[in-house]
Amino acid sequence: MRVLSGIQPSGKLHIGNYFGAMRQNLQLQAENEGFYFIADYHALTTNPKPDDLRQYCLDVAMDYLALGLDPEKTVFWRQSDVPEVTELAWILSCVTPLGLLQRCTTYKEKVSQGLSPNNGLFAYPVLQAADILIFKSQLVPVGADQKQHIEVTRDIAQRFNNAYGEIFPLPADHIIESVAVVPGIDGRKMSKSYDNTIEIFEPESSVKKKVMQIVTDSTPVDAAKDPDKCNVFALLGLVASPQELSEWQDRYHKGGTGYGEAKKRLVELLCEFFRPYRKKRQELENNPDSVEKVLLNGAARARKIARETLNEVRKAVGLRVE
Ligand code: TRP
Repeated sequence: MRVLSGIQPSGKLHIGNYFGAMRQNLQLQAENEGFYFIADYHALTTNPKPDDLRQYCLDVAMDYLALGLDPEKTVFWRQSDVPEVTELAWILSCVTPLGLLQRCTTYKEKVSQGLSPNNGLFAYPVLQAADILIFKSQLVPVGADQKQHIEVTRDIAQRFNNAYGEIFPLPADHIIESVAVVPGIDGRKMSKSYDNTIEIFEPESSVKKKVMQIVTDSTPVDAAKDPDKCNVFALLGLVASPQELSEWQDRYHKGGTGYGEAKKRLVELLCEFFRPYRKKRQELENNPDSVEKVLLNGAARARKIARETLNEVRKAVGLRVE
């Protein structure tokens, strides 16, 4: 199946991104034809500083490549290097009823968070539909918050097909099951906007510092503790073997183990887990040109397909075809 997903360039990825979605995304590339891109046109809707946008794209690209995205197998590019999607977005916007976009909760949420209600933000789902449809994608792995955008995509595709002929297959969403909600160091969901993250590739010394700051309750060392209410235990669940995890569970129940001990082990396990990838990340950092090359190569592959679909669409709607 052709699997496509867009990744927001919002800076360095954290372990919540990894265990929440990225790992599952990377696993999908093994058995499918993967199309993954960095959604920098979408990022413009929130008006980032130009240097930040450039850096965020590079960081996300390096994170994905370091963590196992295989650019030989998976087509990996920066959205804006395939500008055909913006043309398709325009054409699709002409069959998109306003009401469909007005119902999108993502738009309403972003505006209520204080983002400027610009037209890009409003039309965001149309561009996303173009991303998906231009590659005739069959499966789109996304988090639950993006489900509505996939429904909008299907609706737009159907309207287009009804008006101009069957060009677009209707994509299915594949909602990524989070292993668990990954708590941040303050106990809320790990999220960049809460400033409570542990980045995948921050220096090990700073991983340690952050783990030591994880909020725990004030149960004394001797007393029994409830692992299911403990943020440290929740994070251990992501990196400890099942056997070790059940040992920790017993120790929590019995009492006599302090949270500090669990934190120390968590630091070790987190660092061990990401150490092999860290080396690769370093190599990429030392050679940003190689990253650029990968992205441009991916864009060339993606663009060929995008061009073909766009020609079909231009012909169908009555525009000149090259
Ligand atoms: N809107 C997606 C997000 O916020 C990113 C995205 C853009 C995307 N285009 C896409 C995801 C196409 C899947 C398919 O995460």
